[in-house]
Amino acid sequence: MEAHFNFFNMKVDILLGLQWGDEGKGKIVDALTPEYDLIARFQGGPNAGHTIEFNNKRYILHLIPSGIFHDEKLNLIGNGVVLDPAVFRDEINNLGIPVEEIKKRLLISNRAHLILPGHRFLDAVYESSKGDAKIGSTLRGIGPAYTDKAGRIGLRAGDIMRSDFETMYKKIMDIHLKIAEIYHHNYSISSFEKGWFEGIELLRNFKLINSEYFVNKLLKENKTILAEGAQGTMLDIDFGSYPFVTSSNTISAGAFTGLGIPPSKAGEIFGIFKAYCTRVGSGPFPTELHDDTGDFLRKRGAEYGSTTGRPRRCGWLDLPALKYAIMINGVTRLFIMKSDVLSGLQTIKVCTSYKVNGVETEEVPLWYQGEIVPVYSEFAGWENNLSEIHDYNNLPENLKHYIEFIENQTGVPVTLISLGPNRNQTIFRR
Ligand code: GDP
Ligand code: IMO
Ligand code: MG
Repeated sequence: MEAHFNFFNMKVDILLGLQWGDEGKGKIVDALTPEYDLIARFQGGPNAGHTIEFNNKRYILHLIPSGIFHDEKLNLIGNGVVLDPAVFRDEINNLGIPVEEIKKRLLISNRAHLILPGHRFLDAVYESSKGDAKIGSTLRGIGPAYTDKAGRIGLRAGDIMRSDFETMYKKIMDIHLKIAEIYHHNYSISSFEKGWFEGIELLRNFKLINSEYFVNKLLKENKTILAEGAQGTMLDIDFGSYPFVTSSNTISAGAFTGLGIPPSKAGEIFGIFKAYCTRVGSGPFPTELHDDTGDFLRKRGAEYGSTTGRPRRCGWLDLPALKYAIMINGVTRLFIMKSDVLSGLQTIKVCTSYKVNGVETEEVPLWYQGEIVPVYSEFAGWENNLSEIHDYNNLPENLKHYIEFIENQTGVPVTLISLGPNRNQTIFRR
């Protein structure tokens, strides 16, 4: 693939979602992998579902970085990720790549925290205790695993090599059992434990490394790194719509703590967003559509969760939220996804500001401060089938107008336009 960007700068480029996740990160990381030496996940865990399509096959990755399908490339599960050995085992076994080959391509940080069987169970316990205020968690144990990390009782990938690993495991499992008792749940872990310990055995055969040394060494050697975000900015623990968020920093800052690289090594920040918005799970979504257009977007965009299969909530593009995400992340280039899904709509709306308790603002408010009513601008749609277009100049004029409006509003160039799920349905633009 021709080099489209200035990749050779000893910096770490970061690709992340600017909305509520599922923007199409997996597809683009896979498409950009030929340009990099290492693809590194820096946060989140198996709550992520990153879809990649090529050669008429579709793969969904949860823990493994999206560069795995390219030989001669390295992938890293970084220290900021929470790793469930059971999910890891299933994913390795279903990739369609021989395990010996995966071992050559995949590295794992010793410092990545493990999701334990008790974490998955506690996720369900906490969620059911929330009554009407459920987060809509993927129930993969993410929140409880990060809780134990911050509480300094977690287990890390490197611990599996210790002779007292099982004792450490039992100690923390006892704590999980006690918490479950408080919530009056009968704790049956045996169903979770079998696959988990099989995953631990498999993990022992992989390269567990002090990855902070490794990534900094690569940078010194002039190698290129792409950090792959999971979730999206509006799900960030600090800046998302708290408490309806995930438990990690999904923003660009998370890449530095999640990989052990200094902020001075930041290169391009690729911000990826859909031409509309979706959200899975609960929480505020000002531009959500509860009508036929919402159903149209869901059907046309196949908007069903990659991890849980849940229908995604759909709505118009939310510019105040997009600008907020661009600001927090320092986005240098925008990648717009799924404009093909909008084909056939007569009118397309974009939220340009909110009315909060009757007062117009472009700032994302602390959610629930009051009623948020979106203020919309309208655009004429396009009829064309976009799936075979490979040149920006051949896009319908109305779509170009839509993209250029977003550029003008955000002040950031849109340099990639994705028009279908396949690797090849991607237009690069300088
Ligand atoms: P991720 O979590 O950000 O990697 O995104 P997901 O894989 O969860 O969801 C994105 C979905 O949209 C997947 O089913 C992709 O195959 C699909 N997709 C990605 N880009 C495009 C696009 O430009 N057009 C269409 N129609 N589908 C796309
Ligand atoms: P990718 O990487 C979309 C959502 C869940 C829930 C909230 C908290 O595929 O974009 P958690 O399991 O973390 O406790 O869930 O965050 N969520 C995602 N939504 N895409 C994701 O990942 C998500 N990961 C978590 O639906 O609302
Ligand atoms: Mg996803």
